[in-house]
Amino acid sequence: MNDNRPIIIAHISDLHCGSQYHIPSLATRVADEINELKPDALIVTGDLTDMGFRQEFEVARRLISRMNVDRVMVLPGNHDARNVGDMHFEELFGSRSTELAFEGVRVLGLDSSEPDLDNGRIGRERYRWIEERFSDPDEFKMVALHHHLIPVPGTGRERNIVYDAGDVLRVLANSGCDLVLCGHKHVPNVWRLESIVIVNAGTACSYRLRGKTRASYNIIELHPDRVKIVLKHPFDKPETVADFRRTIKRECAWRPDAELREEENPDTSGVWTS
Ligand SMILES: [Fe+2]
Repeated sequence: MNDNRPIIIAHISDLHCGSQYHIPSLATRVADEINELKPDALIVTGDLTDMGFRQEFEVARRLISRMNVDRVMVLPGNHDARNVGDMHFEELFGSRSTELAFEGVRVLGLDSSEPDLDNGRIGRERYRWIEERFSDPDEFKMVALHHHLIPVPGTGRERNIVYDAGDVLRVLANSGCDLVLCGHKHVPNVWRLESIVIVNAGTACSYRLRGKTRASYNIIELHPDRVKIVLKHPFDKPETVADFRRTIKRECAWRPDAELREEENPDTSGVWTS
């Protein structure tokens, strides 16, 4: 990590290209601001489209391509999983779950969408993989997904956290995860749970808004000793909304030796015999 300049991650979400509420002038403004910011990475936490249609994904790809950032992670949201939109997503953006690693930071991007459902899940089949990818105790560990991991105020009736949120939180806490990025309900928010900072982004460039929120995105600053979350409304000044001391954690849930021993001596105590 460079001592003079923090690692900067731009976090945008819920572009909703194709929606009547998508505002192209806001979208180009966000792209211009991000180009001026010159972040080390750009993370887009889903809902690129409104209905998962091909032409909406193409607009989203053109918009994201305008942002001159070397490392880009793009994840699908529930709107992108409508109408078999995941097929177009994979053709235009690649894998629905992906990973970035740079300068001591590791980001796991998890597709939390389900075909034609607004609800989301991570799924227990991925827990082991998360633990394994977070096996380096010295890395700053991040997860990005579309749906909420814990409830967010000002989002109405709660139906937005992933089905397996409790189990995912346990996996992340045990693996020493530092930061989680989410989108989904267009309400920016920061929580800290245990020592995990959980950040939601608003909608970057649409008028699909709740209450008095405005279009916004987040800038994450990783300093050697601090994590700052900066809220940015297009055209307005940036506002630091959270500033946490970095907790150095060395937890790691993955035990490859234990896994090998299990394979050598499989536990058959739970196997029924007749
Ligand atoms: Fe969403």
